[in-house]
Amino acid sequence: MESVQVIKQRFGIIGNTPVLNRAIEKAIQVAPTDISVLVTGESGVGKESIPKIIHQLSHRKHGKYIAVNCGAIPEGTIDSELFGHEKGSFTGATQTREGYFEVADGGTIFLDEVGELPLTTQVRLLRVLENGEFIKVGSSKVQKTDVRIVAATNANMFEAIKKEKFREDLYYRLSTVDIHLPPLRERQEDIHLLFRKFASDFALKYKMPTIKLTDDAIQVLLKHRWSGNIRQLRNVAEQISVLEQNRTISAETLKGYLPTSGSNLPAIIKHTKSDTDFSSEREILYKVLFDMKSDLNDLKKLTMELMKKGNAKDVEKEHQGLIQKIYGSDDETLYEEEVDETEVLSIPEHQESSQEMISKSDKYHFAEEIEEEETLSLHDKELELIKKSLERHSGKRKLAAEELGISERTLYRKIKQFDL
Ligand SMILES: Nc1ncnc2c1ncn2[C@@H]1O[C@H](COP(=O)(O)OP(=O)(O)O)[C@@H](O)[C@H]1O
Ligand SMILES: [Mg+2]
Repeated sequence: MESVQVIKQRFGIIGNTPVLNRAIEKAIQVAPTDISVLVTGESGVGKESIPKIIHQLSHRKHGKYIAVNCGAIPEGTIDSELFGHEKGSFTGATQTREGYFEVADGGTIFLDEVGELPLTTQVRLLRVLENGEFIKVGSSKVQKTDVRIVAATNANMFEAIKKEKFREDLYYRLSTVDIHLPPLRERQEDIHLLFRKFASDFALKYKMPTIKLTDDAIQVLLKHRWSGNIRQLRNVAEQISVLEQNRTISAETLKGYLPTSGSNLPAIIKHTKSDTDFSSEREILYKVLFDMKSDLNDLKKLTMELMKKGNAKDVEKEHQGLIQKIYGSDDETLYEEEVDETEVLSIPEHQESSQEMISKSDKYHFAEEIEEEETLSLHDKELELIKKSLERHSGKRKLAAEELGISERTLYRKIKQFDL
């Protein structure tokens, strides 16, 4: 069996805390079997290395390794992405398409953010896990596949099970072996080590001398909460490496790169904003991105449905909630907006562009979307920001919206979306 140190070197994993070593050891031990593994841990702790280690050390290493970010795929397309579809199974399904489970036969599939899977997809996944069987969307033919599954989540799965958002039987089937990666703040002795490694990498990359922390700065580094974990530490190291002329970094300088409140959230917009307030600007950009991403996902969902059903009226009836979310709510007078939903939904039958979309969705563009994690952690941050602001203003939406720099209607939508 390969040693933990050799694996760390091979996969570029830095750190020496016993918990990290234990997690890697576990990955090495289960690799040669076909046991399903669930990797748990906060965002940014390094979960993505584990399925790679498992695949590389298994007899499947010459087979395919497909990483799928379950949270990034719209609900309407996820079954087709994972299990494929039959030609003609929905409007626009111009050809039969293989899903990841068919393509990865003999290999490994990494299901990142598995907690985000819709319940109907969970049923299909359970079947594959139990007897290797699956059925393409729109087909009745049972197919077989031999895929090893490694899943990861940063969500509290017990909470999801309690809320009936995740099937308990699937959870136990996925987590035959659980590999937990602790947050960075619980790996104190690794923090400075990681920082030095990143500092030296960025010095090389940007062809500048390596930054070095003073003793006081090291103390600040160690005491910080790092709720974005190693990803956040890496970002901070990169920013400092690029921006600081003086390569010896004092505690004060370092603090300037860390979020101010005890936690790690981007600082709340201050009322006395200056034009150069970088954190506020960044925050506004985050917000715009959050809103756009959320709207885009909803629109994707609706478009898929429209293409499948080809009947705007049916789709409109079935997705009232979603339509209201995108185009505004009419169940609260405060947020009333004149939206002619029929008009909004009567998307012109532009054959060419819808063809384009289909051929795009026929490709495996959702797999290997490893950057998605970042967005998700931002999602958590946004949620946290909203909660805090509402708390501060004793639930008064108007004041909270003002503080957050968003419209009341957007805030209202977020409250609904996050179930606050
Ligand atoms: N032990 C480690 N040593 C070096 N880099 C790490 C380590 N753990 C994580 N990283 C880096 O931190 C970032 C986030 O890791 P990732 O696996 O994407 O986290 P997660 O999937 O848990 O959110 C990546 O750039 C990764 O290379
Ligand atoms: Mg990840």
